[in-house]
Amino acid sequence: MILKIRKTDDPILRQPAEEVVDFGHEFQFLVDNMVDTMRKNNGVGLAAPQVGIAKKIFVCEFTGDPDSDLKEFPLTVIANPEIVEYSKEKRRMVEGCLSFPGMEILVSRPEKIIIKGQDRYGKPIEIKACDLYGRVLQHENDHLHSTLLIDHIEESKVLFIGTGTLGEKSLELLAKDAQYKICTVITGEPKKIIKRGKKRQENPIIMIAKKYNLPIIETNNIKDSALIEKIKKLKPDIGIMADFGQIVPEELLNIPTHGVINIHPSLLPKYRGPSPVQQVILDGEKLTGVTLILTSAKMDAGDIISQVEVEISSGETCAILKEYLGETGASLLLNSIPYYLAGDLKPIKQDESKATYTKIFKSEDGQVDNSTPAKVVERKIRALNPWPRVYTIVDRKRILLLAAHFEEDGALSIDRVKPEGKAEMSYQDWARGYKKVLEFKK
Ligand code: CO
Repeated sequence: MILKIRKTDDPILRQPAEEVVDFGHEFQFLVDNMVDTMRKNNGVGLAAPQVGIAKKIFVCEFTGDPDSDLKEFPLTVIANPEIVEYSKEKRRMVEGCLSFPGMEILVSRPEKIIIKGQDRYGKPIEIKACDLYGRVLQHENDHLHSTLLIDHIEESKVLFIGTGTLGEKSLELLAKDAQYKICTVITGEPKKIIKRGKKRQENPIIMIAKKYNLPIIETNNIKDSALIEKIKKLKPDIGIMADFGQIVPEELLNIPTHGVINIHPSLLPKYRGPSPVQQVILDGEKLTGVTLILTSAKMDAGDIISQVEVEISSGETCAILKEYLGETGASLLLNSIPYYLAGDLKPIKQDESKATYTKIFKSEDGQVDNSTPAKVVERKIRALNPWPRVYTIVDRKRILLLAAHFEEDGALSIDRVKPEGKAEMSYQDWARGYKKVLEFKK
């Protein structure tokens, strides 16, 4: 019989468990059900309080995983356990728990233990265990003493460095996760300051930092020695960087104990540099992604920690794709940090021979005329949005091309335009008013 697993705030998980004295039928039935329930949920261990019974009994088993080098261990049933010896050496590993689905926490525990107790029939047993086995025995034993995975959280001090929208979601998830304490957010001026009335609009990173009451350092000079000294005093464990727009000096990169992870919106080593999202759209790529690298002195050339692919759908603008890559990057980051800190994600060198580079776009890059192929015009309209935008010159005046689509016959139809000094309007309205047409090479 599969039992219901009690989760997160269920009070039974905090209730001290009682000694098992009766090893009769009812107990045997409970043990069988616990084994079935653990296996059904793909767990490696299950303690009685997790199925609503405050008794000192747990089961565990690991049959191996072809994708990892974790050692398997046999089905183990222990009643009334007591850990009688712990090794001095500790190891940090990522742990989960069936009562906290989806949660993965970096936990430091003694590497080896000796546990005593009784088997399912009440016979005394003693087990020496290390590796995963030793860890699971300690985790399940915790359950019998109302200690939960969340009680083992050790805060990592995070230094966040970013300015643009790409890092928005990552900063928010880090701020909400109890495993991380953001000691400071370093941010620069956004490349383009949007003025609303006379008030300067704050960059997206400052808005998130304020929402979570995080300390903010605003700077346009990341090389400033007073700033570097200030960061040194904070002793961050790890740095996270996204969309910062300034070259960070090695002296600062070396401050966090575990280095600075950069979130780069491309499949590195391809599309290094400042404009990967624009460039993949211009190149008509079908696939891009997010790469986490260990930031080094050479731009975007650091060792790869993890990477995920993202498909580009036709019609996607740079702004939309960037937002999606930011969200994908945030979940990749939160899933990767505990394993990286545990030493289970070893950074891999980039293949320099496959590296490609992008440049910063200028306003002139947005100009098209009737000799520009329609395919290029359509890609530019999506890639250079929101900046620098695409324009063509009609009667010595600029007209911005805001949206377009291809007809079934392959002709490009412009949908929205903005003539110089006028409001945005449909292409039809413009063509009627100005008695002109815009045509591009097929
Ligand atoms: Co558990």
